[in-house]
Amino acid sequence: MPTQTFRLNGEDVSVDVEDDVRLLWVLRDILGVTGPKYGCGINVCKACTSHINGKAFNPCSVRVGDIADDDEVTTIEGLADTVDGDLHPMQEAWLDIDVAQCGYCQPGQIMAAVAKVRQAQSEGRAIADTDLDEIRNICRCGTYHRIREAIKAGAERM
Ligand code: FES
Ligand code: FES
Repeated sequence: MPTQTFRLNGEDVSVDVEDDVRLLWVLRDILGVTGPKYGCGINVCKACTSHINGKAFNPCSVRVGDIADDDEVTTIEGLADTVDGDLHPMQEAWLDIDVAQCGYCQPGQIMAAVAKVRQAQSEGRAIADTDLDEIRNICRCGTYHRIREAIKAGAERM
């Protein structure tokens, strides 16, 4: 079985698994990293949203064999380590605004939010409502109003 190596939350990891296994299952079932949630498995619900090299992606739709040795995968578990603090500012904003209901979609929502704010910042501008409209993460509990409020609050601290 091929050995797959990549960077995960700041560390090198290696797993023996076939190339065509999707990364979400490698993370959750082999490596025990369960922050990225399984919702649809087909790149629609965005519950599994994580980052690859700082950008949002959905590991349910990526073959582990397509991840390079030096690709840096970050899940919600490693998000706080990307900043100087116990929590990422977006996580703090989430707690302040008490966004979560059942919580299932929330790791993906936070990862999508951070990537979207970084994208706006890299273009030298503040996050706008049109950016928030582009986030497609589904929340079955309907916390969208609080999510939008939290993203704006978190963005001010990023
Ligand atoms: S589980 Fe990945 S997008 Fe739905
Ligand atoms: S908080 Fe329940 S699915 Fe979003």
